[in-house]
Amino acid sequence: MTSVRELSFQTLEAVLKDGAYSNLKMNEVLQEHPLSAADRGLYTALVYGTLKRKLTLDFYLKPFVKTKIKGWVRRLLWMSAYQFIYMDKIPTHAIINEAVNIAKKRGGKQTGNTVNAILRQLTTQPLRDIDAIKKKEERLSIRYSLPTWIVRHWLTHFGEATTEAIAAQMLLPAVQTVRVNRTKTTVDAAIQQLEQEGYLVTQDPDIAHCLVVEGQGVMQSKLFQQGMMSIQDKSSMFVAEMMDLQPGDHVLDCCSAPGGKACHMAEILSGDGNVLATDIHDHKIGLIQHNIDKLGLTGIQARQQDATTPFDGQFDRILVDAPCSGLGVLRHKPEIRYTMMPETVEQLVQIQLQILENVAQNLKNGGELIYSTCTIEQMENENVIYTFLKAHPEFEFSMIRDPRTGTDVKTLQLLPQDFDADGFFITKIRRKDQ
Ligand SMILES: C[S@@+](CC[C@H](N)C(=O)[O-])C[C@H]1O[C@@H](n2cnc3c(N)ncnc32)[C@H](O)[C@@H]1O
Repeated sequence: MTSVRELSFQTLEAVLKDGAYSNLKMNEVLQEHPLSAADRGLYTALVYGTLKRKLTLDFYLKPFVKTKIKGWVRRLLWMSAYQFIYMDKIPTHAIINEAVNIAKKRGGKQTGNTVNAILRQLTTQPLRDIDAIKKKEERLSIRYSLPTWIVRHWLTHFGEATTEAIAAQMLLPAVQTVRVNRTKTTVDAAIQQLEQEGYLVTQDPDIAHCLVVEGQGVMQSKLFQQGMMSIQDKSSMFVAEMMDLQPGDHVLDCCSAPGGKACHMAEILSGDGNVLATDIHDHKIGLIQHNIDKLGLTGIQARQQDATTPFDGQFDRILVDAPCSGLGVLRHKPEIRYTMMPETVEQLVQIQLQILENVAQNLKNGGELIYSTCTIEQMENENVIYTFLKAHPEFEFSMIRDPRTGTDVKTLQLLPQDFDADGFFITKIRRKDQ
């Protein structure tokens, strides 16, 4: 049987070397390998912890790595260093033995000896002091394991204190939240059933059908398997709530896979109205359809379409939950911080504007469009919507309620520390009546 550390290491290889998405890969591994609850916890902690702290771990290891080592050896060292530095309960000898075993199996005795020597030094000598790094950007980059370009953008936009608060939050485990499918059950019944299944449940104070669920993975729960609820972050839930859907509305969700918000909107409409859920990727339409079927929803159809190409028909509401850099969801997808590049952000901005330009033509007079992203990059958020509005005087902001203050705002940038949830941007515009 493969050990938990080997599984964790294989997952890290898949993500860091082969470009797999951590959350998808981890779900796949956990489905293939029925681990005990304790081992699942260890597996998740090792993979997420190592991914989230990669740059910091490399900083600590650097003085002890004196010869050239292969990429996989470095990744194994990161995983081992993570256990030593950030996890209290694992004895040092167990960390080293397991790492040496993996190294020997994969690279032979010599590699095992190298790993042994490096880890022995790391675990017996003082760690380098991050505070001694003079340049602020570099210091924050190492402390929070973020590339310097991200630190620079955040410092410019949010200032130092908020940047540190965001960065620190991104290192914490994501809270597990679910959206109760009110077309099938009630919030009270869902809470009761989850509690019977052994979960600790708290009802969210801002969104009544959002539940914070603690305990083992909620995918294991009967309620989830029966389509009585969906796993969704609280920040994401605000989007459909702010669409202000009315009975009979025709809604277009043009970047909709895997269908989280489209299904949420169909639940709100509850058959009285219609949601057209489209996405550019054909293979993702099956995911949306799977969710529609599982949740038993009516008044919602999924089909493939590139949102930069013309749509037929006019809609009361349009959602552009745009493809974005994803820098607000680093707790769920920590590797994005290393793979995202500033050039890609610029390309994304062009696509976001193209999508807005295109679908805005399908909005009825007086209709409303929400533009949302799961990033905290100003270029993809405020800049995009202001650029669009400047070119389109026939549109204006439609105010949305800031759930943090209760005041009406034009744009809403949620940060992870606001609700212990994802960083998210939401804004709503309206086509003026003619
Ligand atoms: C942020 S995700 C959407 C998440 C979804 N709204 C939800 O709540 O589950 C962005 C989606 O946009 C899709 N996408 C990217 N470029 C697109 C395009 N040109 N037209 C339509 N969809 C696109 C991606 O495939 C991705 O599924």
